[in-house]
Amino acid sequence: MRFGLALILLAVLGVVASACSKKAEEIVIETEPVAPVPVVAGPAEYVGTEACASCHEAEHEGWAGSHHDLAMQKATPETVRGDFDDVTVKYYKETTRFVRDGDAFAIEALGADGKRARFPVIYTFGVDPMQQYLVEVEPGRLQSFLFAWDTRPKGEGGQRWFHLQPDEYIEPGDPLHWTGPSYNWNYACADCHSTAVKKNYNRASKRYSTEYFEINVGCEACHGPGSRHVELEETKAKRRPSNTGFDRRLPPPEKRKWSFVEGGNIAVLATSQPSDETSTCAPCHSRRADLGGKGPGYHDRYRLAVTRSTSTGRSCRAGCTRRAWSVATATTGTAGTSERRATRCAPGATKPRPMTSRSIIFTTLAPKAAFAPTATCRSARTW
Ligand code: HEC
Ligand code: HEC
Ligand code: HEC
Ligand code: HEC
Repeated sequence: MRFGLALILLAVLGVVASACSKKAEEIVIETEPVAPVPVVAGPAEYVGTEACASCHEAEHEGWAGSHHDLAMQKATPETVRGDFDDVTVKYYKETTRFVRDGDAFAIEALGADGKRARFPVIYTFGVDPMQQYLVEVEPGRLQSFLFAWDTRPKGEGGQRWFHLQPDEYIEPGDPLHWTGPSYNWNYACADCHSTAVKKNYNRASKRYSTEYFEINVGCEACHGPGSRHVELEETKAKRRPSNTGFDRRLPPPEKRKWSFVEGGNIAVLATSQPSDETSTCAPCHSRRADLGGKGPGYHDRYRLAVTRSTSTGRSCRAGCTRRAWSVATATTGTAGTSERRATRCAPGATKPRPMTSRSIIFTTLAPKAAFAPTATCRSARTW
């Protein structure tokens, strides 16, 4: 197998080398000069979305109000979409109440000790088609609550609270209870919904002092810190080569075409413009365990995971529910049993998604319609 692959590669190299008479040693299919990144002393620092917006009005306009912009927000009457107008909902025998006091929101529910308490809602998480809430269980400790608000219109089945663990009753004290580590903001949510998150876990005190540069997914969450770029743009009048001052290369889609080679069964890049898109998007858009550290490549830092069936051990590929995904993300590598318990597949999980450069990244994410885990992976056994 490996030998066969090596032969194909050699054959490809041969074709390329002969097609490219001038520089045979360079393996390029379509050449476009990639300008060297000018060097400015010192590592780049974050400057903030507002600073970028001052020169890139159009991009800022496109980003403002996007899901990246709204990934995490302070809970205010403008940002909270759920109904907190003294609404009571049931989870098995438990009653949860959503209340509002002026501009402040709170949830009355059973805490980790099984006692009923009123927890202030501090932040919103996500925006559409569902929104979740971060509540403070003790000063500085944020947990994501497990009743989510379905933001779709009523006619589509939305405008209601729904529980993310509908299939079995999770009691206070259980690791999968909403007060447990799997739903702790620092541990399980922070690094994908904000920009430049540092978890800052202290082993001795067993506490996090998590910080982020921006609350949401700002420009530099994708482009990387921009101080060098701004410095270069401010000091030089001339038009600069592409990616001036950034460590990441993100060429536009028309410079990154994928196509099928005759006889091949997987699409390959037909243009050679280097891109860091996968390593930019994948840390947030894949199911993975964070190994820590500051490795430059995705695989240095993360261990990519696939969701596995409870009974068959098969991977779910597409269609795993948000809950399975986020719980499993949080527990990968640490709590095998809760991962197994949490894994469910949605109906239609058997259909692999079409392979485009972006859907490779997105295959591990929940399709928007599939909130309620109505079928387990077992029924998705056909492939
Ligand atoms: C002082 C003005 C200024 C600021 C501030 C600024 N930029 Fe730029 N940026 C420019 C100019 C000018 C260009 C070149 C425009 C062009 O080629 O069309 C550019 C180009 C870019 C490009 C395209 C690079 C490429 O590959 O061609 C990106 C991406 C970019 N900026 C992102 C950002 C981000 C993110 C921030 C905030 C960290 C930012 N810029 C802040 C002026 C600025
Ligand atoms: C810092 C983490 C992070 C990075 C990096 C990131 N995303 Fe996202 N992305 C998110 C989060 C979180 C959401 C959902 C936010 C919400 O629903 O409020 C999201 C949502 C999206 C959506 C759905 C938006 C919609 O309107 O439905 C798309 C598409 C997307 N991202 C594409 C990308 C691409 C492409 C890249 C890389 C160029 C990327 N993202 C990089 C965190 C990230
Ligand atoms: C590995 C990165 C990552 C982690 C960790 C993460 N999220 Fe997200 N989250 C995303 C991305 C990416 C999206 C957008 C997915 C899409 O639109 O398809 C998203 C979307 C959402 C949404 C909006 C619903 C939707 O379908 O767009 C909510 C609510 C949410 N996340 C809550 C949470 C909570 C609560 C946690 C912690 C328990 C968490 N997320 C942890 C990456 C992450
Ligand atoms: C979710 C990731 C993500 C976020 C957030 C993001 N960008 Fe980008 N940006 C990209 C990618 C990927 C490209 C290149 C591919 C493309 O053009 O779609 C790009 C391209 C650009 C370009 C070059 C456009 C061109 O015509 O070549 C500019 C300028 C830019 N972004 C500025 C910004 C600014 C300013 C913000 C914040 C307001 C921002 N970006 C937020 C991912 C992101």
